[in-house]
Amino acid sequence: MKAIVVTDQAAGLAGMTLAERPRPAAAGNDVLVEVHASGFTTGELEWDPTWVDRLGRDRTPSIPGHELAGVVSALGYGTTGLSVGQRVFGLTDWTRDGTLAEYVAVEARNLAPLPGDVDFTVGASLPISGLTAWQGLFVHGRVQAGQSVLVHGAAGGVGSVVTQLAREAGAHVIGTGRAADRQTALDFGAHEFVDLQSDSLDEVGGVDLVFDIFGGEILKRSAGLIRAGGTLVTIAGPPEARPADGLAIDFVVEADRAQLSEIAQRVRDGRLRTLIGTTATLDDAVAAFNPTERVKGKTVIRVRP
Ligand SMILES: NC(=O)c1ccc[n+]([C@@H]2O[C@H](COP(=O)([O-])OP(=O)(O)OC[C@H]3O[C@@H](n4cnc5c(N)ncnc54)[C@H](OP(=O)(O)O)[C@@H]3O)[C@@H](O)[C@H]2O)c1
Repeated sequence: MKAIVVTDQAAGLAGMTLAERPRPAAAGNDVLVEVHASGFTTGELEWDPTWVDRLGRDRTPSIPGHELAGVVSALGYGTTGLSVGQRVFGLTDWTRDGTLAEYVAVEARNLAPLPGDVDFTVGASLPISGLTAWQGLFVHGRVQAGQSVLVHGAAGGVGSVVTQLAREAGAHVIGTGRAADRQTALDFGAHEFVDLQSDSLDEVGGVDLVFDIFGGEILKRSAGLIRAGGTLVTIAGPPEARPADGLAIDFVVEADRAQLSEIAQRVRDGRLRTLIGTTATLDDAVAAFNPTERVKGKTVIRVRP
């Protein structure tokens, strides 16, 4: 099968190449998925699991990309819950070969059915941003109607979904980002916007929840805004600061079938939309991930037309 592979961590994105790889087999509890669309996060090439397996053994050449939408083509021994021919989408294991390929073997529990009226391209754009936003807001942040939420990077991949879900949940949403992102963040549902380059975060006043994607100085300043009993949730690694009287939680997104289904339902009925910047074929994927001009939104690879 055709796949994008990486062999050299130092080479970064420029080290991605299109190669011929053996089609994977579905192990116990796996499904083999015929990939129709694939999502990739640039940060993946910096993470250890892209280069080594769970025992720390070199697993190059490895296939990156961990988001997918496709069709189940085979079941491993003992696999239940999904059927051959079913449309699915989801998030694959970081320590196994990924989705920038014609086929991927993935544990069935990492996938959810993709409704027939949700396009494969949209399906592949949802798992990381959707699950990260869902888990940060509802599982870790326990957001409630009437609370105020500061959403950093509100016009970006994760932040735009956090903004939409928080607004739907009845929270007052204060988005942040660059000046040029103001209108995008407001269009996604932010009630207010803070331009991190020229406005002062201190003017925001007290908030119940901060959803941080940056870490560093911005996280430190945000921790000071949290009301007693509030929560700082970050996806940028262990937090460098904590609220004086509240929780600080950092987490890494996990696959979850029920949450994927909630997200798909919101896309179907128009409550949620994702930011897709570019689509490209697998043959053109390396060029698409090494753009000459800045692309806003996610790059989704259409593995099958
Ligand atoms: N822990 C986890 O499970 C997890 C899960 C998903 C993502 N992540 C991480 O979370 C981060 C965000 O992911 P994403 O997909 O949302 O990224 P993204 O789509 O690039 O969004 C980031 C947003 O923040 C803006 N921004 C960046 N630097 C800024 C600054 N200094 N001041 C103001 N605005 C700034 C960006 O604007 P520009 O585009 O103009 O720079 C963009 O709008 C990444 O580092 C990713 O690796 C972690």
